[in-house]
Amino acid sequence: MEQREKREGWHSGLGFILAAAGSAIGLGNIWRFPYITGQHGGGAFVLIYLLCVALIGLPVMLCEIALGRHTGRNPVGAFRRLNPDSCRLAHLFGAGMTLCGLLALFMRSWGWGGLFILIGVLIFKYRWTLVGVMGVVAGFVILSFYSVVAGWTIGYVFKAATGQLAFETVDVAKESFGAFITHPGWAILCHFLFMALCVAVVCRGIQGGIEKVSKVLMPLLFMILLALIVRGLTLPGAMAGVRYYLSPNFKLITPQCILVAVGLAFFSLSLGMGAMITYGSYVAKEQNLFKSAMAIVGLDVLVAFLAGLAIFPAVFALGFQPDQGSGLAFQALPAVFHHMPLGAAWAFLFFLLLLVAALTSGISLLEVVTAYWVDERRWSRRKATLVFGGCIFALGCLCAVSVANWNHIKPVEQALATLFGGVKDSFFVTMETMADWMLALGGLLIALFVGWVWGVRRAVDEIRQGSDNFADVHLWSVMAGLKDDPSHNSDMHVFTLASLWGVFVRFICPVAIVIAFLNTIGWLELKGPEAKPAAVEQVADEPVADESASAIRNESHESM
Ligand code: TRP
Repeated sequence: MEQREKREGWHSGLGFILAAAGSAIGLGNIWRFPYITGQHGGGAFVLIYLLCVALIGLPVMLCEIALGRHTGRNPVGAFRRLNPDSCRLAHLFGAGMTLCGLLALFMRSWGWGGLFILIGVLIFKYRWTLVGVMGVVAGFVILSFYSVVAGWTIGYVFKAATGQLAFETVDVAKESFGAFITHPGWAILCHFLFMALCVAVVCRGIQGGIEKVSKVLMPLLFMILLALIVRGLTLPGAMAGVRYYLSPNFKLITPQCILVAVGLAFFSLSLGMGAMITYGSYVAKEQNLFKSAMAIVGLDVLVAFLAGLAIFPAVFALGFQPDQGSGLAFQALPAVFHHMPLGAAWAFLFFLLLLVAALTSGISLLEVVTAYWVDERRWSRRKATLVFGGCIFALGCLCAVSVANWNHIKPVEQALATLFGGVKDSFFVTMETMADWMLALGGLLIALFVGWVWGVRRAVDEIRQGSDNFADVHLWSVMAGLKDDPSHNSDMHVFTLASLWGVFVRFICPVAIVIAFLNTIGWLELKGPEAKPAAVEQVADEPVADESASAIRNESHESM
């Protein structure tokens, strides 16, 4: 059934793994993970994060890669190819959406009402293909703000190189950072430079562009990271930072934490919008998908973990406060580096690290959009990257000038406010929030599609190619040391990696995502067992505790 047209693919399996790991490893790992971990109980949060990654991230990652390789298409093409002619589940969603829309209209919320009804009707017409469309749209949305933040790292690399990051205190650094990101000229210039880099790479295609760049940048990333860790750990007093980062404080673990971990896992692994479908579509049939997924997830987690190890010891050794929340990277660290011998050089390396990580992620986001226009609309790669890189740049400009407020783009604010009745803090935050929703929804729909519509059986048939062990080795027998026992080779033994995966994809992942999703949109506010007085009592002995409660609330607003 597979009539593949000639399509470019990865040159090697390692190339794919590095590129996909490059997509996963980004600002999410080096910037968000360390400070979120610091706020949510250190080692205990790391444990929960690892569980989320293993139980939800890995299965969904495998779904995406299998979908991609099976269809050899971008997300829209992939879903279009596997879209059933009629699907009760899709009709259910369509009806639900339309109903919500009518309800919203009834409540005179014209923007929401119209939007929901439109989506409802589109679901009836296109069914699952819409999930792919949402992925491409999410590519636009995410890259528009991601590129702005990545642009700041370009600015900071430049500043470090020219010795402009010599801040005595965090407050000075904070002020300078604020002035930098709210200066429209600088913000847009840096954002432009980052988009130009992404376009230049994606333009050159899979092997000559993305794979080549990843093969150079990923080892570079590891080297810089290791250098920073060695430097941090050898400073006198570094162990206090290690303790802060890694000693589990179970008092800070709340249900809220678990949901934060789920969200972070999705964003950090690049799941939920078809980035891995797209990268998977260039993978050869001989490649072992299960092992690849394990490697990608493993590298992603490793880098997140190492980033914390590079940051906290240095912060503590130099006597700074680690409770900066999202300001840690751009505000606290420059001041920390300034007080080290050869500080400017270390600052330069750190921001280069952030830039490298962000670049390979930005590339993957642009590739999703590009692949759609190349596969489905038969555009040339060059034209697609230039045109849509340009569009994303334009959308990003709105983000760049509205990091803190809407002052520069009042008409946009007004238009959105009339349609949707009230807007968020800034366009930047609006895009970010939209991305959160789309990823959670996308991840849920991808798991449901593979589990219930395309079917685990067909997915396993795809994954099995290049990985015999996935469906044919009985885990009980392996675990019991009876792998080669003849009595254990009958079909009676059905506990395999494949069956385990199937259960996760059909039940565990969707349920977990729905819970996280309801929390994201605020319909389900899980409260932790921590009563207020307990939190106060922790403050005395734990520097972590006081920040945590308020930081959790603020985080969604200033995390990016
Ligand atoms: N995973 C990247 C990070 O950690 C960001 C990213 C790249 C992404 N591509 C994505 C997130 C696709 C969601 C979907 O920074």
